[in-house]
Amino acid sequence: MNFGARVTGTGSAFPENRVNNASIVEKLKKLGIETSDAWIRERTGILERRISDVENPAEQNSSLGFSAAQKALEMAGRSPEDIDQIIYATCSPDTLLPSTACWLQHKIGANKAWVMDINAACSGFIYGLATVEKFIQTGQVKTALVVGGEVLNPFLNWEDRNSCILFGDGAGAAIVEQVPADSTQRILSSHLLSDGNLWELFHMPAGGSNMEVTPEVYSRKLNKFKMKGKEIFKIAVKTLSDFANYALKKNQMTVKDLDWFVPHQANRRIIEAVANRLSLPMEKVLINVDRYGNTSAATIPTALDEAVRNGTIKSGQTVLLDAFGAGLTYGSMLLRW
Ligand code: ACO
Repeated sequence: MNFGARVTGTGSAFPENRVNNASIVEKLKKLGIETSDAWIRERTGILERRISDVENPAEQNSSLGFSAAQKALEMAGRSPEDIDQIIYATCSPDTLLPSTACWLQHKIGANKAWVMDINAACSGFIYGLATVEKFIQTGQVKTALVVGGEVLNPFLNWEDRNSCILFGDGAGAAIVEQVPADSTQRILSSHLLSDGNLWELFHMPAGGSNMEVTPEVYSRKLNKFKMKGKEIFKIAVKTLSDFANYALKKNQMTVKDLDWFVPHQANRRIIEAVANRLSLPMEKVLINVDRYGNTSAATIPTALDEAVRNGTIKSGQTVLLDAFGAGLTYGSMLLRW
């Protein structure tokens, strides 16, 4: 390894429309489906989420990514011309072609960069950071932009009360820069794994090349998310705990060495169960699922950005990122901030 990689700036952006649980209850009631604010709060910890107006160009996935990236560039003291590489982590691209990374490049004007999307669902931001870290370590890239951005609402089945209550839209970004390999402040290690055998737990049958969205497919809602929530819950608790422990062990650390734990924000009960298994006090866990729901690849960068901007995360602190997502995909990353 010739170099290290350090996060030098973060940013986030959300759509304007705040949708609280009461609004979801009303929406589902019109469809003849029962839910309640109490059920959503108690079973998920979610109080509200943001929902993009997809007809508003400012609230497209790449536009939220653009706003988040601008803020991250400003914090890092960099301009779009400094960016060599853009990775856009998303499972809800603006279009299948071109990539959302290309749409972002078009908007931000980082004209010397090469860009691509990564679809690792909710683990996408960690997969993106781990990818740019490798290019930076070998000296091929000096400054990279990683965005985790999602506009999930077009893919929600509002007749499935199990899943539609969980998700929200938003984007988070990070500027990652080359530093000396022995720098104290850098990404310390990353750990990725996927298990495609578990594809059925969270998937969308149509919308790709396997199945065109015909009127019949549309009426059967095959172009919407299908989720086995209970099964995912159990696997998530186990793998998040395992991946957190693995990252700590690889760095000869224990939970006592951690300043902050930033898990994927799918359900507050999942996060609490993981903290409990790790014997980690909840005071060290960053949470934003209450205000934004599950924003998939955006949960970790938006939680990070909030904590950096309000002074919760300070220079030199040790931060552990930990995610699971559709695929299934898993990933953890330890950083010294
Ligand atoms: N309102 C009221 N009742 C509901 C609702 C709702 N919105 N949803 C489900 N219920 C009912 C069920 O029908 C069930 O009723 P029954 O006992 O009469 O059959 C009861 O509540 C309990 O259902 P469970 O499925 O046991 O509820 P659970 O506590 O497991 O919570 C949930 C369900 C919220 C989906 C949870 O399992 C979960 O969060 N799983 C993880 C989901 C996840 O992370 N998905 C994304 C992963 S990948 C990615 O992030 C892209």
